[in-house]
Amino acid sequence: MKIKSLKLKNFRNYADETFTFGDGLNLLSGENAQGKTNAAEAIFFLCTGYSPRANRDKLVVKFGEDSGEITGVADSLYGEVSVKIIFSQSDNKRMFVNGIEVLRISELLGNIHSVFFNPSELKLVQESPEDRRRFMNISLSQMSKTYFRALQSYNKILAQRNNLLKDKDVSLIRETLPVWDAQLCKQAAVIIKARNSFLTEISPIAQEKHAFLSGGREDLALKTESGYFGEEDDIAYALSEDLKTGFERDLRLGFTGIGPHRDDIKFTLNGEDARIYGSQGQQRTIALSLKLAEAETFKARFGEYPVMILDDVLSELDRKRQTKLIDAVSKMQTIFTATGISRSIFKNVPFTHITIKDGSVKSVKEY
Ligand SMILES: Nc1ncnc2c1ncn2[C@@H]1O[C@H](COP(=O)(O)OP(=O)(O)OP(=O)(O)O)[C@@H](O)[C@H]1O
Ligand SMILES: [Mg+2]
Repeated sequence: MKIKSLKLKNFRNYADETFTFGDGLNLLSGENAQGKTNAAEAIFFLCTGYSPRANRDKLVVKFGEDSGEITGVADSLYGEVSVKIIFSQSDNKRMFVNGIEVLRISELLGNIHSVFFNPSELKLVQESPEDRRRFMNISLSQMSKTYFRALQSYNKILAQRNNLLKDKDVSLIRETLPVWDAQLCKQAAVIIKARNSFLTEISPIAQEKHAFLSGGREDLALKTESGYFGEEDDIAYALSEDLKTGFERDLRLGFTGIGPHRDDIKFTLNGEDARIYGSQGQQRTIALSLKLAEAETFKARFGEYPVMILDDVLSELDRKRQTKLIDAVSKMQTIFTATGISRSIFKNVPFTHITIKDGSVKSVKEY
């Protein structure tokens, strides 16, 4: 998967600009606040229908404008695809795939695959389980519409179940809950099964990537704590039994205490909990290794790598890890953003150097 061009109109600090990317490594450089992350964000938006940093779509419209748009054209094994999103201050965003409007995010997903990394991905290791679930959800939703739909339904049913649990009429709860639970378990099983396969797939790869980036000194292991295994039917059955057992607890708490919304991943480095003992650099390397492993699963499932977007990552790594990272991504189209990076870290690997100033492309050079 390669993104060939990206057109931004009244998007963030861009008035009207078109990027043309190289097939291999692309370095977007410029001073602070010139629009590097904005361009990276736009690509991610085209892939997933949402921003990695704005929680409201309207925020991306250029200050003072009523509407803005992004259009990307990508090449994949299945041919060329163009994706466009129009944002407006007064209306919901509109999405188009190959010129045809699509009404659901699920129809946008999967047209262009990407893996996105920026410094806040450190949260993946450091912070709450929610960040780790988001990582799995973003990957798996791009890989499978079935997953995305199951996740949407699950969240809806879960919210309704939690509402019901807060009702004062306990006999109503007892009567109605089994209906919700049957549906909840069905959707949960799709999610859990997909996450189990995903984690089984990425664990050894992440371990290998981590060993590579750390020069073989650190042994990374991933452990999932969902506790449900097997086929979807087995998972659904086990979960429904546990929901029955946990009924009194759920009733007391007023929410559902078990299920995929409580999943977590545990990382250990040389056997120690990386969240507690890992240094910043080690945690960053874990997050990067996970993203590199994620890229490999796209390759295994779809026959081609996703677009790798690495926002502000180079400057945070020591020289050795920088060179190793470049080595690791040299086989896929990668978009790096950076402020002052010495070209010499690319050594003999060819790359496209795009410089950005104040929402405009200033120069494009091939090395
Ligand atoms: N909706 C918007 N309209 C206009 N400008 C915006 C909008 N949202 C953000 N900006 C501007 O975009 C600029 C930041 O761009 P961006 O985050 O891409 O910078 P950057 O080049 O990645 O910088 P850094 O090196 O600091 O990460 C800021 O000046 C900000 O004010
Ligand atoms: Mg930035």
